Amino acid sequence: MNKVCVVGASGKLGQYMIQHALDKGYEVVGVCREKSVPKLDRFKERITIIPGATNDRAVIQEAVVDCDGLLTVLVPWGVQQYSSGTAQAVLDHARPGARLIFSCGWHISRDGQDVYSRNFLILLKVSSWIGRLTRAIDIDDQVEASRRIFASDTLWTVVRGSDLEEGESQGLPVWSRHVGDPILESNLTRRVDFALFMVAALENDDLIREAPAIVGCQTPSALAHKSISKV
Ligand SMILES: NC(=O)c1ccc[n+]([C@@H]2O[C@H](COP(=O)([O-])OP(=O)(O)OC[C@H]3O[C@@H](n4cnc5c(N)ncnc54)[C@H](OP(=O)(O)O)[C@@H]3O)[C@@H](O)[C@H]2O)c1
Repeated sequence: MNKVCVVGASGKLGQYMIQHALDKGYEVVGVCREKSVPKLDRFKERITIIPGATNDRAVIQEAVVDCDGLLTVLVPWGVQQYSSGTAQAVLDHARPGARLIFSCGWHISRDGQDVYSRNFLILLKVSSWIGRLTRAIDIDDQVEASRRIFASDTLWTVVRGSDLEEGESQGLPVWSRHVGDPILESNLTRRVDFALFMVAALENDDLIREAPAIVGCQTPSALAHKSISKV
């Protein structure tokens, strides 16, 4: 892995991913909306920035050329198929054999085997409804984006984040295939470690065509699971 592209580079997750990728010695290209380019000022001497919407196919085509790895933040903003347009552009323009890592939340299910709490489902329903009403968020489009990724024969990984918090890194999150598995019960990950998992996934072939649901490695459920597995 030499050159990676962060699609959605100016957000919090994107900036953490840039830092981790630079720490690993990768050459980094970042794509973000033109108005957000100043958010990347602290990196500007060390990365190439391609300004533009992440669902603009020409922008993605230019950004990902020669990249061995693509780290894509899937966000359900607006009602212009932002998530699915972004995912499709990445799937179509990544070079064959590139590792494609996408971010989303636990609400995305690959096989319908995830088990969600009642509170989680209520919150999801309410935020989908409010998002549709205000035309600010389209969660169904993030679901569509994931459907297209799961159906693709590229080397994808869809990393499903729990609730997030800020704070110093605690190390690589642990993961499980299904929400509802006991190890995930704490439902909390440091955002910096979500980014760490995304970047580490680039070189972890065990995660190819997996949709790991992650949780912080120092959370009570992660620690409890580790101690059980030692008994
Ligand atoms: N927040 C959570 O609690 C949570 C929980 C689980 C999973 N996740 C997942 O984590 C990822 C990023 O989450 P985050 O909370 O850390 O957010 P973030 O990194 O701050 O990312 C937000 C992204 O959305 C872009 N954006 C904001 N408003 C936009 C608009 N109106 N149109 C187009 N793009 C817009 C931002 O670009 P600009 O810099 O240009 O504004 C940025 O790239 C997502 O995949 C999300 O599903 C989040």
